[in-house]
Amino acid sequence: MTLKQSYSGIFQIGATISDRMMKNEALKELIKSEFDVITNENNLKPINVLDFEKSVSDLTKYNESPAVKFEHLRPELDFIRDSKLDMRGHTLCWHNQTPDWLFYENYDIKGKLADRELMLKRLENYIASVIGWMNENYPGQVTSWDVVNESITDEGGVRDRLWYKTVGADYILKAFTFAKKYAPEGVKLFYNDYNCWLPDKKRGIINLVKQLKEAGVVDGLGLQGHINTSMNIELYKQTVRDYFSALGLEIRITELDIDMPGNCDFEYQGKYFRDYMKALIDLKNEGVNIVGVTLWGVTDDLSWKSGKNPLPFSADLSKKPAYFGMIEAAK
Ligand code: XIL
Repeated sequence: MTLKQSYSGIFQIGATISDRMMKNEALKELIKSEFDVITNENNLKPINVLDFEKSVSDLTKYNESPAVKFEHLRPELDFIRDSKLDMRGHTLCWHNQTPDWLFYENYDIKGKLADRELMLKRLENYIASVIGWMNENYPGQVTSWDVVNESITDEGGVRDRLWYKTVGADYILKAFTFAKKYAPEGVKLFYNDYNCWLPDKKRGIINLVKQLKEAGVVDGLGLQGHINTSMNIELYKQTVRDYFSALGLEIRITELDIDMPGNCDFEYQGKYFRDYMKALIDLKNEGVNIVGVTLWGVTDDLSWKSGKNPLPFSADLSKKPAYFGMIEAAK
C-alpha cells in the first residue's frame, strides 16, 4: 500500500515538487502513486511570478497591476494536471520571496515606498491575475490557496515588513477579501504559518484567524510543520487541538519535514514519524478536522534541509523507516 492508499478515508497526503524533480521520471511516478495533493515548492511564489522587466516597461499599464509570468510553471502544472492530483496554491501574499521593487513607486527601489492606496490596488490585481490565470489555464486544479503566509511573529504581533509598512496591519484581511472575490466557489482559503506551538504566536494566529472567520473569508489554517525529533508530540497535539477548538476551521499540516538534532538515526526518525502521524490520526478521531498532511519535499537530497535528511525517501527513491512509520501509524 502507498501512503495515499493507507491514509484514504483519514486525510490527504501531499508533497512539494520543484524544477529539478520534473526531470526525474521515476520520481514523478513515485509522486503519482504516493500522494493526493501537490504544492509547488517555489515556482508560484511572488518572486518567481512577478515580472519586473515587463512591469517597468509600461508603467501606464502595469503601475497598479504588476505584470506576471507563468511559463516557468508549465512543467509542474502539466504534471499535476496529467496525474489528476489536487494542488495547493502557495502562496499569494508573503513578506518573504517577494521582490522589494513591488513596494515602491514606479517599481523603483531608489525612490519612495508606494502608498496604501496604490499597494492595495497592486495586491488586488496580483491576486486577481494569479487566481485568474490558474483558473483559465488549469481549471479546477487548485483546491486550496495559502492566501497569506507567515504574517505573525513568534511574539504574536503582525510582522513589520513591507506589506505592513505600506498598507498597515489590515493587509492580511484585504488579501483574504481579494482572494475570496476571485477564487472559484469551493476553493479553500488558508492562513499558513510556522512555529505554531509558541504560546504568544498561537494567541496571535488565533486572534487573526478569528477576525478573518468573522469576515467570512477564510476556510482553513495551515500549520507548516518544520520540526525536529526533539519536539514534544503531546505539546504538538494539544496545540493542534487548541487551534481547532478556538477556530473550528479545517486544519492542514502544510510543510512537514522532521530532522534530528545531532546525528541522523533513521530508525529513531522512523519511530518519531510514526508517533507524530499517530497523534494526528488520534486528533482526527477525536473530531479535530485535519484534512491533510503535506511533506515539504519527497527525497532527502532535494529537500531545502538536505543535509538534515528530514523526509521519508532517500535520493535513490528507496523508502526510509520514516516512510514505514507513516504507513504503520495509519493501520
Ligand atoms: C522554502 C523552499 O523550500 C526553499 O527552496 C526556498 O529557498 C525558500 O523557501 N516556509 C514556507 C516555504 O512557507 O515556502 C519555504 O520554502 C519554507 C518555509
